[in-house]
Amino acid sequence: MNFKEYVIDKLAELTELEKGVIENSVEVPPEEKMGDLAFPCFPLARIMRKAPPIIAAELAEKFNSDEVLDKVEAVGGYLNFFFNRAEFEKETIEAIKASNGNWGTSDIGNGKTVLVEYSSPNIAKPFHIGHLFSTAVGNSLAKIYKHLGYNVQSLNHLGDWGTQFGKLISAYKRWGDPSVIEKDPIKELLKIYVKFHDEAKEHPELEDEAREYFKKLEDGDEETTKLWSYFREQSLVEFKRVYDMLGVKFDSYNGEAFYSDKMQEVVDILDEKGLLTDSEGAKVVDLSELNVPPCIILKSDGATIYATRDIAAALYRHRTYNFDKNIYVVGTPQALHFKQIFAVMEKAGWEWSKNCKHVGFGLVKLPGKSMSTRNGDVVFLEEVLNESIEKTRAIIETNSPDMENKDEVAKKIGIGAILYTFLKNSREKDIVFAWDTMLDFEGESAPYCQYGYARGRSILRRAEGIDYSDADLSKATSDEAYALVKQLNSFGDAVKDAADKNEPFYINRYVTNLTKAFNKFYNTNPIMKDDVDDETKKARLAIVDASTQVIKTALGLLGIDTVESM
Ligand code: ARG
Repeated sequence: MNFKEYVIDKLAELTELEKGVIENSVEVPPEEKMGDLAFPCFPLARIMRKAPPIIAAELAEKFNSDEVLDKVEAVGGYLNFFFNRAEFEKETIEAIKASNGNWGTSDIGNGKTVLVEYSSPNIAKPFHIGHLFSTAVGNSLAKIYKHLGYNVQSLNHLGDWGTQFGKLISAYKRWGDPSVIEKDPIKELLKIYVKFHDEAKEHPELEDEAREYFKKLEDGDEETTKLWSYFREQSLVEFKRVYDMLGVKFDSYNGEAFYSDKMQEVVDILDEKGLLTDSEGAKVVDLSELNVPPCIILKSDGATIYATRDIAAALYRHRTYNFDKNIYVVGTPQALHFKQIFAVMEKAGWEWSKNCKHVGFGLVKLPGKSMSTRNGDVVFLEEVLNESIEKTRAIIETNSPDMENKDEVAKKIGIGAILYTFLKNSREKDIVFAWDTMLDFEGESAPYCQYGYARGRSILRRAEGIDYSDADLSKATSDEAYALVKQLNSFGDAVKDAADKNEPFYINRYVTNLTKAFNKFYNTNPIMKDDVDDETKKARLAIVDASTQVIKTALGLLGIDTVESM
């Protein structure tokens, strides 16, 4: 039974309004005590030539309480509908149970493919906090789309090509020591890369050497290619360590290099369509009609660039996956780049380019630390993750010294705290990392939700042996119980909103509010106390069970793990 549809049908029967009109005006009242749904009678005033409060009063009388509606009240010009709590709870709890951990799923994505490109760090460079932001958002979006039935492909568009590899090869040949590099590849490679930049300031001929090395690499020269793969492999070992910590997996690691032999076709197509113009020796696509700078396709030395590789990648993805959506989770500073390449693709007549979408995000500030990669003074991501885990571990050590699996719990909470922070606000907002908020077990944080879940699980453990599968929900219809079940019921809406806007924060806000409602419920509705009668106990347990399931599912969509006790 869809309670809202029932109300709409009834209203359509009793008034001359069309269902669509009613659906648009039915709203959720601002306060709990005004019921579950409200219908403003103002649009009827003109048709019925009566004052809205009179219409409301007359309509209210035509409703009798039944299985679905408990009562209908006229207040001012509004009709307020109160659902039959027991019935609503029963249906919701049963549906959650039947969903088997898949509550809030949908089939709207069936038969459709969504590509989510995220993380995409650069080889031989640190995986920085911006890449972590991308990883958190992208990983969550991939899960959200999967939940809605889409075929999802997670893509990691590694930055593994470009002139900087000529510099790195030159640096390596001068100062590289494999035994040192193997111990800490990215730090060491970064060190010699930075050294290259310093030296090149005084010896500009180094730049020429680097250009030659990149040319060799582009031409497939064996030695340089070998070095390039070595850097790539070493970097991937480090990146994968971070992905393992986060529980993130990709379907493809095709990076920029993968498209190096697929760019000529793009150049040819753009040329044939007459889109390429000369600009100081470079070939560009003019985009002045959009008021944005031209998109450079070939540099004056004939080398292709980032944008060309992205256009080749989009074409390849279209052919390989025939996607319904191709999402790029990349920082907002690259918005212009995406605007340009999407415009070029549209000019090329690629209809499907309208399904490509840049999903941007803001900057991250770690108080008191520089985030620049240029001077080598960078914050390494793994250090941030480990710091969070250590801080959590210290909190556990103080609060629950007897806990058995401290390491596992510290890891899940520490990492959860970071993911939660990235997904807490609308993604384009800048973020400041503040440990005390992130690890505040009582504030809006991952540990707060994880703790709520663990509390629920511990109640269920204590209830072992009690069969509540046929609980009579009419025994648990307090305001707190009902508010909680209403939250549980609305999970699917949060998932759809998150996908519509590509904003995981809808899930984040949902799970935080759900946990609040859950805490309020078990603080005011005792469950395992002796003076609670059996029937009430069972009904409350059924609600606890459903709540823990949904908290877990929702946190899961954010990439956050739960722990059974903490
Ligand atoms: N590697 C790039 C960076 O670190 C991000 C790549 C974004 N994806 C893309 N298709 N351009 O800035």
